[in-house]
Amino acid sequence: MRVLVVGSGGREHALAWAIYRSPGVEKVWVAPGNPGTKTHGVNVPIDPLDFDAIYDLCREESIDLVVVGPENPLAAGIADFVTDRGILVFGPTGTGAQLEASKSMAKDFMARHGIPHARYKVLEQVEDAVDYVRSVPGPWVIKADGLAYGKGVTIVSDVNEAEKAIGEMLSGKLHGEAGRRIVIEEYLEGIEATAMALCDGNTIFCLPMVKDHKRVYEGDKGPMTGGMGAYSPLPFVTPEMENTIYRDILYKTFLGLKADGIDYRGVIYAGLMLTEDGPKVLEYNVRFGDPEAQCVLPRLAGDFAGLLLACALGCLESFVSGKGIEIRDEAAVTIVLASRGYPGGYPKGLPIEGITDSGDTDSGDAMVFHAGTGLDEGGRLVTSGGRVLAVTALMPILEEARSKAYGVLSQITFPGAHYRKDIGGLDT
Ligand code: AMP
Ligand code: GLY
Repeated sequence: MRVLVVGSGGREHALAWAIYRSPGVEKVWVAPGNPGTKTHGVNVPIDPLDFDAIYDLCREESIDLVVVGPENPLAAGIADFVTDRGILVFGPTGTGAQLEASKSMAKDFMARHGIPHARYKVLEQVEDAVDYVRSVPGPWVIKADGLAYGKGVTIVSDVNEAEKAIGEMLSGKLHGEAGRRIVIEEYLEGIEATAMALCDGNTIFCLPMVKDHKRVYEGDKGPMTGGMGAYSPLPFVTPEMENTIYRDILYKTFLGLKADGIDYRGVIYAGLMLTEDGPKVLEYNVRFGDPEAQCVLPRLAGDFAGLLLACALGCLESFVSGKGIEIRDEAAVTIVLASRGYPGGYPKGLPIEGITDSGDTDSGDAMVFHAGTGLDEGGRLVTSGGRVLAVTALMPILEEARSKAYGVLSQITFPGAHYRKDIGGLDT
């Protein structure tokens, strides 16, 4: 099989890595990829939103399957574009991608299909939003409706701050067009966790539960980021709780999509708050989480590319019952190494020390996944993004995976590099 991965981050490096090592995969391309993905495939300098160029590459290289990493091309309809031209795609259509691209649509979907969620209201007028905030108890969670690169959520407990955030979002100042409609929702307390399933339009296959760490500093302090680290499995999720999440959230989401006439072939990602009243959905994503993918994919044994192909073809049930894929018992811990200043502004082009020249990501039980890395004129590895790379270790128990991941990470550095020291600790 010949596979094209679309995207350039740590998630796409993990996808390229897992696809490349699958039996039956002849060659992998990554558009545009990063220095790490070169170890497993051919990087092609194509923008993920340039659908014509992606389709031309598919034809020239006789690509069998396109695997889409990020949400933007999905929301812009890449799956529709490529599928209409006869090429298989792992990733939902533009309509399916609305689950992530519109928070109001996602909320209405949850309400319509009885999927547990926070109380909410969709608003477009400042006066209505201010009246609403004054009529319900705080803290308030104020969300831009559209895609805002993971930065569209403001949580406030002061009514004046709430009014300020409402004004800035609805005027377009804070998130442009994405903020011209907002969702204000009830603040939920609990532990956050991620549940993901793969869907082929007929059934789902649930992936192991995983926990991301959204805030930049230890103890969940500081501003929100794209995610600073992850671990899996989750000791605080009992098998009963896991079943409830699979049945009442992931499966119900699949049934809801089906009932709405959406032929969904890709990842259903539910960002959850595990509250005293049970798990509730905070948000949907329509693709693998980043860094959740870097953490969970190493826990899958078997034919990962075959699994994605089965989703695209609509034959997931027979693939899974034929034991094409299994979940490993080992624990995985992923730690993100970020640039100084991230999630705010950060310098680029700083030399990265301590990664073997080959960029080897497959050396036994620890992997280094590149994200914001680049090569300078001399071909040396340098930083080029906020989240620069992630180390994942896979070991029999969580504590071992944690020590191993931190051990490998401590060998890698660049000026200003920072990471959270509490990923996979008992209090996270
Ligand atoms: P979202 O993009 O909707 O997942 O929101 C980003 C982050 O905001 C989540 O990971 C949570 O940490 C936080 N968040 C979102 N919605 C809520 C909520 N209703 N209650 C508490 N925290 C929330
Ligand atoms: N790690 C959260 C996300 O991928 O949106």
